[in-house]
Amino acid sequence: MASATNPWDPQRVRRALLRWYDAHARPLPWRATRDPYAIWVSEIMCQQTRVDTAIPYYERFLARFPSVADLAAASEDEVLGVWSGLGYYRRARLLHRGAREVVARYGGQVPRDAQARLALPGVGRYTAGAIGSIAFGAREPVVDGNVARVLARLRRIETPLGRAVTERALWADAAALVDGPRPGALNQALMELGALVCTPSAPACPRCPVERWCAGRPIAETLPVPRPKTRARRLELVAVVATRARPLRVWLERRDGELFGGLWSVPMREAGGADLGTEARHALRAAGIRARLPQTPRGELTHLLSHRRLHLRVFRATGAAATPHADLALVEVERLAEDRGVSTLTRKILDVALR
Ligand code: ADE
Repeated sequence: MASATNPWDPQRVRRALLRWYDAHARPLPWRATRDPYAIWVSEIMCQQTRVDTAIPYYERFLARFPSVADLAAASEDEVLGVWSGLGYYRRARLLHRGAREVVARYGGQVPRDAQARLALPGVGRYTAGAIGSIAFGAREPVVDGNVARVLARLRRIETPLGRAVTERALWADAAALVDGPRPGALNQALMELGALVCTPSAPACPRCPVERWCAGRPIAETLPVPRPKTRARRLELVAVVATRARPLRVWLERRDGELFGGLWSVPMREAGGADLGTEARHALRAAGIRARLPQTPRGELTHLLSHRRLHLRVFRATGAAATPHADLALVEVERLAEDRGVSTLTRKILDVALR
């Protein structure tokens, strides 16, 4: 028979979490360092990206930019180049700006002061707390998706994520738990428990070190209550892969604005009212490229971002000529992977046009 839940006891829960973490923590590369910069990089990468996916990017990034000063000295192009493929490029641009600020204002040392850390570009409460607890041993809480799930279940929080009452409760519980020894390990224990045991579906409750205290255990799979969905807006785009032959090269322009700003992409624009061929011609002209352009697209594809569902018609134009400049370059397709920040979307577009 299932026993009643033990009363909430942050100290005993904390001890159980730490003991479990010591036995089960994965040997992630950023767990071998207390360098606040390296931890900062890892935490930014792990937002919106699975840990396993982030690892090779983390290693490449730190090999290329071993210190805050190295990152600050790099160009945005170089930074986006190393980030290329990870997605959510805004994170990379803000990290880069943050590094520049740490050099300019704090002599290249990530600030120990929590308020100063929070004021850095791209550093919110979660990232500030992760750096503070893991690198500096400060008793600062973190709540990310994994932690929110663990705490919503443990404390049976039945209001939707994103609501002020819910967020207040989650951060208060996280703060109570971290207010003891080994804050960095405690915070990572919560993340790890969410990743390995307290999973979104089919949580492994019998293997959970804090099951005894889990008020949400009987309804675990229904928690946390998700935030109300905002539907991804659908965006119709035309993209033009403008090439020259022997060797096969493609014109790329550096985008600005919200969608993939700073990254290199083939000319692309939102399809307005005109027919597709005309839209494609406008896209080429806006980029300053002359080329032979067929009236119909070569193919189409969809691409999902966090807030947008992109639907693209992809044209292939040939014999393309233009005058290169800082934001327009003719690049060998075979060497694209090496040195430029291009998004996964651009790679998909090229696959459609060039296959
Ligand atoms: N996700 C984000 N940061 C993490 C960390 N330090 N450990 C485990 N999972 C994480």
